[in-house]
Amino acid sequence: MSQKFAAVKGMNDLLPPQIETWQFLERTARELFGTWGYSEVRTPILEDTGLFVRSVGEVTDIVSKEMYTFTDKGDRSVTMRPENTAPAVRAYIEHGFAQQPVTRWYYLGPMFRYERMKTGRYRQFYQLGAEAYGSQDASQDVENIALAWHFLKAVGVQHVTLHLNSLGDAADRPKYLEALKAHFAPHLATFSDAAKDTFERNTMRLLDTKEEALKPLIESAPRVGDFLGEAAAKHFDEVKALLTTLGIPFVIDPKLVRGLDYYTRTTFEFIYEPPGGDNALGTAGTVCGGGRYDNLVKELGGPEKPAVGFAMGLDRLVLLLESLGKRPERRPLLFLATMDGELKAHAVKLVTELRTQGLFVDFDPRGGKIKRQVERASTLKARYFGVYGEQEHQSRTLKLKAMDLPDGDPNKEVQVGLDTLADWLRAR
Ligand code: HAM
Repeated sequence: MSQKFAAVKGMNDLLPPQIETWQFLERTARELFGTWGYSEVRTPILEDTGLFVRSVGEVTDIVSKEMYTFTDKGDRSVTMRPENTAPAVRAYIEHGFAQQPVTRWYYLGPMFRYERMKTGRYRQFYQLGAEAYGSQDASQDVENIALAWHFLKAVGVQHVTLHLNSLGDAADRPKYLEALKAHFAPHLATFSDAAKDTFERNTMRLLDTKEEALKPLIESAPRVGDFLGEAAAKHFDEVKALLTTLGIPFVIDPKLVRGLDYYTRTTFEFIYEPPGGDNALGTAGTVCGGGRYDNLVKELGGPEKPAVGFAMGLDRLVLLLESLGKRPERRPLLFLATMDGELKAHAVKLVTELRTQGLFVDFDPRGGKIKRQVERASTLKARYFGVYGEQEHQSRTLKLKAMDLPDGDPNKEVQVGLDTLADWLRAR
């Protein structure tokens, strides 16, 4: 008896033709991030559970509810990475990079969070992230933000707004939390259980809750920007000024606290906000989130090294680009129909030679009726179609049909010699 299986809920197969969009994003990222001086790192999927508890924070949603954690056969508690900032910092310290003045890394790969699913939110999802270690200068924040901004532009995403905030330094935090608690405390009786829990465990996260009843209270809550120490306030001013110099528009969003505990000073998100109408991402409009985390390297046993970074949700970018009809096309330049017998070997040899010269040429291994091979060529949207028959073999020329042109067009059919075929195709 056979048995059929389906993918685990929240985990997607990435398949053709959408994979073209994925590869386009990945190609563009590698090129652009390299140009900006960021080198790729690949850390393991599994990490010591303690790494995330310590860095992302015990009372965050990610750590308290969403991690894929299990005990391995060696009796260690391991976790499938819910994010890549902590693993990157772990590797940065472990392999001595923290001894260097400035290090810039990027990564691209799957992350895992046991989240409630909806459009743009999955349990295995893909992040493209960039982290810069070693400088607390505002120019490092802005360089990192500008990288995200230019990447989004380069891949053709529009209508994303940069939301910006500063959470101040760790030393500024207690005063702010005190003010926040005092603001919410008198209303606790009216809170949902979830909101009460957030109040107790991670008060700042209340600013990010979506509960309607809380909205007026959140609007009137004290703003973290009013509690910045002198150094953090100056730094934030510099970040804003430099963004303006670079022509990168932003809005100040005093409620932008982010869902991870390691942030200090700058926090930012790029949010998809199309004018009116359809939003392909529904409520999962945040395509990129990041910020500064000046204490994490030290917290994880390294030297004093300030850092800043971001991660983008690639699944969301793919959804967006697909909704805009921006999938790059991959079409064979030439589809070569084959005849049976010895001629087929010659045709396959020609296809192989053209392919080794970097040309996308295809054929149907099943061969068969020419009519069916034409259909196959048009399904694949081949640009040119040719038949490798006895006459072509003898004369060493191919008659090619331009599949895109209508019958009767003077350029519909061309004769090309086999010796010049590669050059001819390359020029198309
Ligand atoms: P994050 O805000 O948790 O930050 O995630 C960054 C981005 O990943 C989100 O803005 C979203 O686009 C995408 N994302 C998150 N969860 C999901 C999901 N379940 N399904 C689909 N996409 C998702 C971080 O992870 C930080 N490590 C970012 C960072 C890097 N901060 C400093 N450096």
